[in-house]
Amino acid sequence: MTHEDIEKKARAILEQMTLEEKIGQLSLKGYGNFDAEGIPQCTDLKELIKKGLVGTVHRRPNDPFEVTEELQRMAMEETRCKIPLLFSADMIHACETVFPIPLAASCSFDTELVEKAAKAMADEAHVCGTNYTFAPMVDVSRDARWGRIAESQGEDPYLAGEMGKAYVRGFQNEETYVMSTMKHYAAYSACEGGRDYDTAEVCENTMLNTYLIPFREGVSAGADSVMSSFNCIENIPATGNKKYLRDILRGKFGFDGIVVSDAISVKEMHTFGYCETLKDCAYRALKAGLDIELGSRTYMQELPTLLEEGAITEADIDEAVLRVLCKKIQLGLFDDPYKCFRGDKSVIFSEEHLQLSEDLACESAVLLENNGVLPMNTKTKVALIGDFGDNKDLFGCWQHSTKLDATVPLKEGLLKQGFEIVGESGNFNIMEAEAASFGADVVVFAFGESNEESGEASSKHNLEVREEIKHCFEYLKARGKKVVTIVFAGRPLIVNAFKYSDALIFGWHLGHRTGTAIAKLLAGERNFSGKLTVTVPRTEKQLPIYYSRRRAGRPFDENRPDYRFQARYNDGENFPQYPFGYGLSYSHFEYGDVQVENTEMKRGESLNAWVNVTNTSDTDGWEIVQMYIKDCYSETIRPVRELKGFHRVYIKAGETVKVNFEITERELGYYHADGVWGTDDGSFVVTIGPDSTSQNSCDFVLKS
Ligand code: BGC
Repeated sequence: MTHEDIEKKARAILEQMTLEEKIGQLSLKGYGNFDAEGIPQCTDLKELIKKGLVGTVHRRPNDPFEVTEELQRMAMEETRCKIPLLFSADMIHACETVFPIPLAASCSFDTELVEKAAKAMADEAHVCGTNYTFAPMVDVSRDARWGRIAESQGEDPYLAGEMGKAYVRGFQNEETYVMSTMKHYAAYSACEGGRDYDTAEVCENTMLNTYLIPFREGVSAGADSVMSSFNCIENIPATGNKKYLRDILRGKFGFDGIVVSDAISVKEMHTFGYCETLKDCAYRALKAGLDIELGSRTYMQELPTLLEEGAITEADIDEAVLRVLCKKIQLGLFDDPYKCFRGDKSVIFSEEHLQLSEDLACESAVLLENNGVLPMNTKTKVALIGDFGDNKDLFGCWQHSTKLDATVPLKEGLLKQGFEIVGESGNFNIMEAEAASFGADVVVFAFGESNEESGEASSKHNLEVREEIKHCFEYLKARGKKVVTIVFAGRPLIVNAFKYSDALIFGWHLGHRTGTAIAKLLAGERNFSGKLTVTVPRTEKQLPIYYSRRRAGRPFDENRPDYRFQARYNDGENFPQYPFGYGLSYSHFEYGDVQVENTEMKRGESLNAWVNVTNTSDTDGWEIVQMYIKDCYSETIRPVRELKGFHRVYIKAGETVKVNFEITERELGYYHADGVWGTDDGSFVVTIGPDSTSQNSCDFVLKS
């Protein structure tokens, strides 16, 4: 169906609808009440559906489809207009099979595998009755105190855009299409001090060049929906922000899908002190271009009065309703409202999906230190110490899987891999740890954050590891033990004390096959390839810290670290513990000098830049080769460097591979002070290396 045909059909439906029914399409409701066994009863919801007053029902992605099917039947058989319902869910990294949290998955830099994981989630959701997910979250996250960093793609706008597109392609696949939502629009992650829901102070130029980039990319990939955020942008609540929703998202980026509010964010415009009455909240949201209201009922209660008073016209309401109807038509719901209940249920929690989850887990773990203790021969005698040694709490935030029991904890993974566990302690008691490690060749030391410690409403001001954990580690090291430390967490914790581990691994929250994946990596059956997508600070006092900071008039000069009058701390280090893009593998890669085909690039043309990367080890491996660009002189101040390309390349032991990047104006451009995208003539630096600190650079000039 062409866009015109879809709109024509939507308009024909619209003509039949009463005002109440139209507003119903802009309303999203949850199940409401449940019985003692937890079965949804939906008493009020059913009444509202029958009256045509609900357009979308929110549920968990893997809820039993029978309840949903009954609701859809009601909408199709017992309402006047017979408009099918959308069924939304927060499917962030799991329907039933749990995949690594998005922050972990981003460390794979593997957009193809992430797309496959999203498709697997859609395959499962599609037979459970979900046709609309509130994912991916693409908030550029630079402050690990913010708990939702776990749901993000890390600190870099370009990477968040590439990952966001991969999720969109996977969810909105041709076979089991689930509408996706780019969220939270925008700058929700810039909340001051990392306090969830708190104010964000970001100027328009930084909005355009940093926080909005992933949204622009998601729109270009055809994302069906965008969720407005809880915070203000330029001191106007995002949910009622006409400039950002209408002028930029719809106008500049060309988004024609559904904008849904975040939970109660329409009503919260009153709490902000932006709208005196709920009527005003509804007015501002609708006028700003917000279509579906989530969590509050101001549209339902106030739009009729606003219309009567002439503050809005029926055309204002129709515009939002049309967008919802168009998506329902495009989804094929009018032709087959039940298609997301049928399907083959055996895809749910299938071995294929678990294997995919394991593969992504292997690629998501990041090896930060290794003095040669890894890989370990499976004859190695292991002591397993810590509260994450035999713990199934490895899903992370936003999962609703009923299959917690099927999670492979670290201990089970190690045993399956053939390791002998000679001693074990589930806590950090020094005496117990020492006894457990007696006779062991290596101590595997595991700790982290529980599922509840990251995600929404999980801000922390202390990212330090508990003292008893550090003491236990230090004690074991002082006794001459070899210690492999594994951190399972939803954010980068402060791990300075563990730098002296014989090997240090960030295992994030990796989902169902965590233990299997980690054991295969420890044994060298799989090689590490993950690289950090967030800077790991030395102390939370450095936050926010990220590699692509804007240039300063008095930048920190590492050759003169003691000079006072520059951007530095007087009482502590400027540099992080581990930089963005960093991660080790069992292979060793050496980079040749960066080459460019020409030192001049003409506008409208492109330029190739490349490096030769040699695997000088005897282990085959994947390397994530990263390209950064610096615009030397620009109309508004630009970052010190920005990631503008990456390749995940497989390099066999002893082999050299030429890794090429094509630089076009897309990689060189930015939004200028007037909000227009463009490039500046002049000098640029291209850097190609293994992480964001690489100095492997070359200059070139862009000329008109
Ligand atoms: C979260 C959203 C989520 C929504 C619906 C809100 O509290 O911020 O990310 O999609 O709830 O569950």
